[in-house]
Amino acid sequence: MTGALWTAVDEYITHMLVPPDAALDGALEASSAAGLPAIQVTPTQGKLLHILARLQGARRILEIGTLGGYSTIWLARALPEDGRLITLEADARHADIARANISRAGLDAMVDLRVGRALETLPRIAAEGGGAFDLTFIDADKQSIPEYFRFARKLSRRGSLIVVDNIVRDGRVIDAAGRDPDIQGIRRFNEMLAAEPGICATAIQTVGAKGHDGFAIVLVTV
Ligand code: SAH
Ligand code: DHB
Ligand code: MG
Repeated sequence: MTGALWTAVDEYITHMLVPPDAALDGALEASSAAGLPAIQVTPTQGKLLHILARLQGARRILEIGTLGGYSTIWLARALPEDGRLITLEADARHADIARANISRAGLDAMVDLRVGRALETLPRIAAEGGGAFDLTFIDADKQSIPEYFRFARKLSRRGSLIVVDNIVRDGRVIDAAGRDPDIQGIRRFNEMLAAEPGICATAIQTVGAKGHDGFAIVLVTV
């Protein structure tokens, strides 16, 4: 029952504060029609990402885990005209759907979608030396979050923001003995954060249309 209430409240907030939008709604429809898993951020979470990117005055954004490009569109829309977003996706089928959705949103020129496993594409991005990312959104496989965070940290500047999705997973994050590699990845990431100098971090648990989960927010301070 709780889940139904969380969803109803999410729908209420979305109805009040997130007006219908052809590109965003179209991206959800196309993703669903193509059979992509409905694991994208919710509209309220997408708008939070957008607000965070605007607060950052972001000109360069990195996203790890594109899916159908729903969060990509929210983030890219926070960029100035000459801003750039690089988004990384391992699944070529997801990338095809995302490319079409991003295109329909009129964001082709801003978004650089790179297909491949992020642990292979990230070293290339680091080698390109394109400058620091103002915001990084980590939202791919959960077992590699520590490695993604390591890259994000390296590709940041003082004042950069790193947002990490799905760090609560129905509360399973506190299961220290569990064997689930996703949970182990999240727990290793938290241990890393606790020991990491030069950052200011917190994590917020969330309930809503996607159940009980949460995200971490990390401000790079040195
Ligand atoms: N950020 C998206 C949702 C991403 S879902 C949104 O909110 O709209 C997670 C995505 O990460 C999936 O599309 C999955 O294919 C991709 N993924 C999983 N493992 C990956 C890897 N090793 N490298 C890059 N992408 C990966
Ligand atoms: C899953 C992945 C996500 O990025 C998410 O937000 C929710 C669920 C998953 O793989 O189950
Ligand atoms: Mg996610």
